[in-house]
Amino acid sequence: MAIKSIILAAGKGTRMRSMRPKVLHLLAGKPLVEHVYDLCLKLEDNTITIVYGYGGETVRKHLASLSVNWVEQEEQLGTGHAVQQAESQINDNDTVLILYGDVPLLKLATVEALLANVSEKTLALLTVELENPKGYGRIVRDSANQVINITEEKDASELIQQINEVNTGILAVAGASLKRWLGLLENDNTQNEYYLTDIIALAVSDGIEIKTSQPLHASEVLGVNSKIQLSYLERVYQIQQAETLMLQGLTLADPSRFDLRGQVKQLGQDVFIDVNVILEGSIELGDAVTIGPNCSIKNATIANGVEILANCVIEDATIGTDSRIGPFARIRPAADIKASVHIGNFVEVKKSIINQGSKVNHLSYIGDCQIGVGVNVGAGTITCNYDGINKSQTIIEDGAFIGSSTQLVAPVTVGKNSTIAAGSTITKDTPEEQLTLSRAKQVTIKGWQRPVKKG
Ligand code: UD1
Ligand code: CA
Repeated sequence: MAIKSIILAAGKGTRMRSMRPKVLHLLAGKPLVEHVYDLCLKLEDNTITIVYGYGGETVRKHLASLSVNWVEQEEQLGTGHAVQQAESQINDNDTVLILYGDVPLLKLATVEALLANVSEKTLALLTVELENPKGYGRIVRDSANQVINITEEKDASELIQQINEVNTGILAVAGASLKRWLGLLENDNTQNEYYLTDIIALAVSDGIEIKTSQPLHASEVLGVNSKIQLSYLERVYQIQQAETLMLQGLTLADPSRFDLRGQVKQLGQDVFIDVNVILEGSIELGDAVTIGPNCSIKNATIANGVEILANCVIEDATIGTDSRIGPFARIRPAADIKASVHIGNFVEVKKSIINQGSKVNHLSYIGDCQIGVGVNVGAGTITCNYDGINKSQTIIEDGAFIGSSTQLVAPVTVGKNSTIAAGSTITKDTPEEQLTLSRAKQVTIKGWQRPVKKG
């Protein structure tokens, strides 16, 4: 059964009060419509069409990487009109699945249950019972409890408005029937829109049975119309992710203060994450990793036993076994930190390899640098890697000891086991095993007096 998924995403989203088209607003760091797209990817034999309209160029540019058929709806004349724009994509023997680009939390199991209800003789409709059904289309049933139509709130009598079962907008239908009914839609309603929901009554008069199913949780079918709803769905989604990870063994100090905007690709045992941690992109966490409060970690591989203390920012980096980072460290792209390394407070590391057992504990900048095994980099050491045009390499060989407040003017190599005295500016390679220093001699001016205020 070939599925054609049609994602309706043409609406402007006036209530978002934003220049950005609604479906591009982010949930867990990903555009709303991409959540729906990712769900579609889990269905077999499925072709995806996105009906876009408002902010068309922006939408297509932002989502250029998605493999979908793009269909433009120039004017938003209703959900039925939106689907009409995609009609040429639909073959008679397709099953058409209608989804909304602003309903991001829908689950695969719910869609599968819906698809199980569709056939040439049945239309599958996802409905939900809401305590407060205001604003939604109501599901109208006859005395035999069969669905006979959907009435939009604005067209509904007071009696119909009391119905709690509402239309989620999500449905599955045979291609041939859908195309026939799309041709019969009219806009003689209070909103002068072509309602997709009118196909329900058309189906019923063609003797097609409407089979309804419900999502496991009502949150799955909640749409985003305002920033308040967006923030609500964000929390729902984050709690779901946190619970999935906790079921896999993660300890979270507070799941309501944890944000994952991407994926934890690997999770070791006994990982602990303190409050206000944001994980982004692709994250791998080994066994017994601990992450302190207020850390932001993006695209990182963190090996067993690593301890990340409070307030660290880590991006596109690898941290080796049993290393300790922070507090207040910034580990930037292409930092490759090996095992048992200590990176302390106010240390920035960029595009550098730091080998086993080395320490950079305080107030340093390590950029475009290779640090050997067992090196000690003193407080305030700076690799001067940039001359305004070119970046140059600093190499610090095994066992070197760099005294505090040293500037290493790259390109430069500090030899194996060499010692650099504090306060040096090193511009030439230093020999192995020797002490090197570059300092002006200290002098004391005899008889010097502090100035006194005149007059
Ligand atoms: C629609 C349903 C209503 C249902 C509700 C669920 C109709 C007529 N009504 O109402 O029964 O309870 O959804 O949320 O279908 N869109 C377009 N082009 C358009 C109009 C809408 O692409 O011309 C898209 C929107 O971007 C959105 C979706 O369709 O993703 C739903 O549109 P919306 O205006 O929110 O529909 P409602 O009137 O709320
Ligand atoms: Ca809506």
